[in-house]
Amino acid sequence: MVYMHKSIDKVLITEEAIRERLDTVAKQVMEDFQAEELVVVALLKGALVFAADMCRRMPVPLIIETVNVASYHGGTESSGKVKFLDAGMPDVGGKKVLVMDDILDTGLTMDAVIRELLEAGAEEIRSCVLLSKRKQRSVECEADYVAFEIDDEFVVGYGLDYQGLYRNLPYVGVLKV
Ligand code: PRP
Ligand code: MG
Repeated sequence: MVYMHKSIDKVLITEEAIRERLDTVAKQVMEDFQAEELVVVALLKGALVFAADMCRRMPVPLIIETVNVASYHGGTESSGKVKFLDAGMPDVGGKKVLVMDDILDTGLTMDAVIRELLEAGAEEIRSCVLLSKRKQRSVECEADYVAFEIDDEFVVGYGLDYQGLYRNLPYVGVLKV
């Protein structure tokens, strides 16, 4: 039985579809990285659910780090400025890094984080997102692994929020307007 929140208009990606797709994507990541030590950098808060589910499908020596960045501030439009909320970056010097985020939209967040991680000395960086919007990005930035491509509409659930709410929904859905 799917728990339909009263503010959700439709379920775009079901819990089952997410589960199946994550199995495939995680397998692909593991093939590419072989059994090498990997640092996962999850971008808070949106990547919380996705990264937790992905990490449990990746049986390699794994270090989990987080970077807290924000640019939407709970709304539906990027402010255009990516704000780093931590004092510094995690220790990624000489490491292979997999950056995980819930969604690639303008590309500004992923682009800014990758730049910082390179600056911090990461040896190799790949990116993995649950969702990628089919649209013109503000910067040239595409993810190496994309679980689902979606149209340019505002979605919530499975980590994605509107005004801080709905991150806990087990599916990706579209809000009622
Ligand atoms: C959202 C989302 C991604 C980013 C994607 O984060 O979680 O990190 O924006 O958008 P972009 O490609 O246009 O940069 P947000 O700033 O809302 O913070 P949050 O993760 O804490 O919700
Ligand atoms: Mg985010």
